[in-house]
Amino acid sequence: MRILLTGGAGYVGSACLRWLLRHGHDPLAYDDLSEGNAAAVPAERLLRGDILDGKTLAATLRERRIDAVMHFAALASVPKSIDQPEAYWRTNVLGTKCLLDAMLASNVKILLFSSTAATYSFDAPMPLAEDSPQVPQVPYGTTKLAAEHIIRDYARAHGLGYAILRYFNAAGADPDGGFGEHRREETHLVPLILYAALGKRRKVFIYGTDWPTRDGSCVRDYVHTDDLALAHQLAVEGLRPGMGRIFNVGSGTGTTVLEALRACERVVGRPIPQEIVARRPGDPAVLVASPAKLERELGWQPRFPRIDEIVETAWRWHHGHPDGYARR
Ligand code: UFG
Repeated sequence: MRILLTGGAGYVGSACLRWLLRHGHDPLAYDDLSEGNAAAVPAERLLRGDILDGKTLAATLRERRIDAVMHFAALASVPKSIDQPEAYWRTNVLGTKCLLDAMLASNVKILLFSSTAATYSFDAPMPLAEDSPQVPQVPYGTTKLAAEHIIRDYARAHGLGYAILRYFNAAGADPDGGFGEHRREETHLVPLILYAALGKRRKVFIYGTDWPTRDGSCVRDYVHTDDLALAHQLAVEGLRPGMGRIFNVGSGTGTTVLEALRACERVVGRPIPQEIVARRPGDPAVLVASPAKLERELGWQPRFPRIDEIVETAWRWHHGHPDGYARR
């Protein structure tokens, strides 16, 4: 399939693009490079454009004869969304509406949407199934949930086929070590631990060990970007106009912050400088997926089910490219 990936030069988007390329598809990235990295995708597959530029989007969909869209373009930091909700509503909600309007104008009927575990109520029993209550508590979650609603309304009225994939904690890098996580400003746990291991940061801060969990630190469900990409491949290949599907994408295993840190120390082979500090606003204690529906309905099985394997790929990338994509 010829697939347009909005945000296709970003961390998850570019991993999906490279995966689709290896699995017989014809993917193109549409990215304004505000957060993405040109070097993360082949140059001939990168189209520069803004998600809020409906005219260019519609022309791109038409002229490139796009069969399906995967919509990754978004602002995706929980802490930043609390301080700048206006930016999140604009990019995540208006951006999705703008894309849907362009799809209608150019008769593209298939859409995959990157949603998030942050749309769920954090008080629901874990692991979370897809029908768990959605009561987001931070603007990142409210804007992604609003985008889910717009997609469902448009799909019902106009016969789109859609799949909403709710990611848990994306982590890891290309297993060959050539591509990985690189943001202008990093806030995520695994890269920050490995930056401390490399000496790029003095230490990693652990946000609280007074949570009601097995070791007092927060529990998350880390899922490798190739396993996310596999979920996208399986979802798009089975989607037809008029269908609507929703899947969690997580490993089903909870890992505490301290366990992730120990895994990094095992992989790196030495202690990593660390300090326990106060809790971070907006964090839930525990967030774990049930991937049962994804496994049952699409036959998805993670290739990197263990945190150590995920960290090994991330370390290969960070160790081999301490400046990320900066020098490419
Ligand atoms: N953490 C630290 N130190 C750091 C960074 C993170 O202790 O320097 C902790 C966080 O407090 C959290 C865990 O590590 O407990 C993971 O934090 P990340 O920032 O890596 O990721 P989040 O859990 O905040 O983000 C994830 C997903 C989002 C989802 C969100 C819901 O990436 O899609 O959880 O809270 F919305």
